[in-house]
Amino acid sequence: MQPRCRLNAADAAHQSSQAARPHITVFSLSLAFNTPQRSRTQGIMGAGGKDASQIQSEVKEYYGETLATTSDLKTNACCTMNAPPKEIRDILAKVPPEVIAKYYGCGSPLPQGIEGLHVLDLGCGSGRDCYVASKLVGPTGRVTGVDMTPQQLEVARKHADEYASTIGYANMSFVQGTIENLESIPSDSIDIIISNCVVNLSPDKPAVLREAYRVLRHGGEFYFSDVYGDRRLPKALTQHKILVGECIGGALYEQDFLRIARRVGFEDPRVLDSAPIDVKDPQLIELVGEAKFTSVTYRLFKLPGLLESLCEDYGQVAVYKGTIPGHRHAYQLDDHHRFEKGRPMLVCGNSAAMVGDSWLGKHFVVTGDRSTHFGLFPCHFSPSTDTPTPGGCASCC
Ligand SMILES: C[S@@+](CC[C@H](N)C(=O)[O-])C[C@H]1O[C@@H](n2cnc3c(N)ncnc32)[C@H](O)[C@@H]1O
Repeated sequence: MQPRCRLNAADAAHQSSQAARPHITVFSLSLAFNTPQRSRTQGIMGAGGKDASQIQSEVKEYYGETLATTSDLKTNACCTMNAPPKEIRDILAKVPPEVIAKYYGCGSPLPQGIEGLHVLDLGCGSGRDCYVASKLVGPTGRVTGVDMTPQQLEVARKHADEYASTIGYANMSFVQGTIENLESIPSDSIDIIISNCVVNLSPDKPAVLREAYRVLRHGGEFYFSDVYGDRRLPKALTQHKILVGECIGGALYEQDFLRIARRVGFEDPRVLDSAPIDVKDPQLIELVGEAKFTSVTYRLFKLPGLLESLCEDYGQVAVYKGTIPGHRHAYQLDDHHRFEKGRPMLVCGNSAAMVGDSWLGKHFVVTGDRSTHFGLFPCHFSPSTDTPTPGGCASCC
């Protein structure tokens, strides 16, 4: 029997497209910092024992002074792997060139169907994703970008008025601050948080996730792209200026990320998209050894009291209405849930809550409630590996 949570035809097609996805390549890391006065070994290994504020000021220096445009990145770990969908490309064509030139993202955390919502971009940089989100939320929505680097914010602010005239309304604001302490953002006030290749740069990732959870409304979502490793790196590498600046040294071991996310309340993290990062530079290969890195877009819903640690079966059915622009025929919730328009799909309690009780609720009809429990939801695959998971699954369907 086919597992109900995964192997429909659309999922199979999606999985084969995942297999064909291009890798992100990291090359020429040794060129990332031109410091001829330092020995090669010093340049590569850096100094250990830095505190969080030192790491943060090195990151600020890197994005405020070292890099002028995307082409100055000497690796492409901070480069988006896939072309965004047509609707997003059409909006990008209207974004001012200087904003685009300073784009350093690694994914496409730009959900559609978000008209009228309040979006917060953590580590917005020069603002590319805010500019796109500004159009996606429309005149009744709002976008707030937060970044700690003044030079990045200056560019984001500089072009905001011109962009407002282009699209016909102004709904963006930019705040200087750190994403570990979102003091200017009230609790329970944000519908969607986006972030693109930033959390890995934070020296205090649990604080970032705690703050994200705090500021989201019930039913809000942290929808973000970042870099993860397949293991914990030695401390020297996690503090290495080049590796950190290029979004690799600070990458969390993915299982640690999942632990932190669950601990702060994001009980059932879902992978939407991922691409392995190829490491080609010989010195970098020597440094990271067998460690592998992946760019992943995660979806973390704030649904307190509704997400369980395992997928439970309450006989609930979800139907997608086909109302999200750019997703008229089907909607991809995550890497193993593709909802065809109008086709009833049996879902576990967690998935029912994600599509029925979140900001997505107006785009779905969910029938059934939790009054009758039919046991563990019968899915047999783990969420991110596509490999069979003996004895059921941990929050994957
Ligand atoms: C790789 S760039 C990505 C920028 C933007 N998201 C984009 O896609 O172009 C990282 C950005 O995060 C900001 N950043 C890094 N750590 C931060 C922190 N702890 N608090 C606020 N901003 C931070 C940097 O200033 C920089 O602008």
